[in-house]
Amino acid sequence: MDRFRIHGPCRLSGSVEASGAKNAALPALAATLLAREPVILRRVPRVRDIATMRELLSRLGVESEEAENGLRFHPGGGDGSSEALYDLVKTMRASVLTLGPLTARRGRARVSLPGGCAIGVRPIDQHLAGLAALGAEVRLEHGYVETRAEGGLRGARFRFEMPTVTGTENVLMAAVLAEGDTVLENCAREPEIGNLIEVLETLGAKIDGRGTDTLRIQGVDALGGGDATIIPDRIEGGTYLLGAALTRGDVTLERCRPRDLEPLLEQLDSTGARVETGPDRVRVQTDGELRARDLQTAPHPGFPTDLQAQYTTLMTQARGRSRIRETVFENRFQHTAELMRMGAEIEVRGDTAEVDGPTPLTGARVMATDLRASACLVLAGLAAEGETLVQRIYHLDRGYEGFEEKLTALGCRVERTPGPPTP
Ligand code: UD1
Repeated sequence: MDRFRIHGPCRLSGSVEASGAKNAALPALAATLLAREPVILRRVPRVRDIATMRELLSRLGVESEEAENGLRFHPGGGDGSSEALYDLVKTMRASVLTLGPLTARRGRARVSLPGGCAIGVRPIDQHLAGLAALGAEVRLEHGYVETRAEGGLRGARFRFEMPTVTGTENVLMAAVLAEGDTVLENCAREPEIGNLIEVLETLGAKIDGRGTDTLRIQGVDALGGGDATIIPDRIEGGTYLLGAALTRGDVTLERCRPRDLEPLLEQLDSTGARVETGPDRVRVQTDGELRARDLQTAPHPGFPTDLQAQYTTLMTQARGRSRIRETVFENRFQHTAELMRMGAEIEVRGDTAEVDGPTPLTGARVMATDLRASACLVLAGLAAEGETLVQRIYHLDRGYEGFEEKLTALGCRVERTPGPPTP
């Protein structure tokens, strides 16, 4: 298992381009199951979760290949297997995004339940309730969800109990091929859902309400093919901007969408970092002291839970006490124990972490527990004195394209080294 060896401290400085958003690309790839003609998706990031989704699609009969600036998908006749097996689903929860498209296009699906997850229980009851509202028969058996809709899905009105990102995407993808009209209420409003709507519209779907919590879908008989582009990754880009503030650096994030980054930029501004935005770029610089600022995560347009761990690292270097409240997932503070081993002062009480800063960080051997927690440990390593060894970086490889190359280009010393083999 590879590890990152980081020689700190360093100052992030220069320009870096945002990659395409993993969390927008994953549902877009799943949507190719709905298409009848080839689909080209541009700016798909080269990360492990995308490779996993391509492998899953291939087993489901959708082959893909490299195309200029993107990937080309060949949907085939829609008669491939409708089964997503545990071996792939366990490595990537987002495999569950095949459930809606398979049920809508092939009238049946059998998808392994994702099971427990490092950041909480994460049920999929809302995905299933939404599909059932559209007329699918849903059964849970032997660790699998099985759906049947042999006569096709029918449009319906459905209200999500809470805004769920992949839940909204799954039910939306099913509804585009349902007979008649569907209204989905209390939908999540993350930019990645807006991107999925653009992709589906390119293929011929009829959807109203992009960016709001109510989506109205007019079902169509079939979707064709098309050419669509994935939006920039606000979580990946946000990680570099937080790194700039943390290391008293100066980073310009290029080819990004500043409006998607607004919750982060407002928060950074309140800590005393200097933030400048252009049409498709954001610059963050800090030279003086940062102020501790409280934070609460929330569904979009609130502060994204996927940047909470990285923000926690930032607060270890800000003056004062900050209270960081996680409201989206339970059990998403595992990174704090590792940060404390590097010298951070953090106390976790229920859903809130209290951070006292600034405290000097020193390099240590630390263990990544999930994707975003891994990023926060790499950031801590950049700010720490001496060598930090981040183990289990396969978590990072799931979602950060060229992480060490980008950090090296920004002036840091980060190497990937092979670790001991997996037991
Ligand atoms: C997606 C993102 C993930 C991000 C999260 C929140 C992808 C591939 N992943 O995950 O990176 O951290 O949004 O922004 O896009 N819930 C239920 N029942 C359900 C569905 C969700 O109770 O059927 C709960 C979850 O346990 C959680 C909350 O709703 O507490 C939000 O989760 P959700 O938005 O569904 O997260 P994901 O879509 O899994």
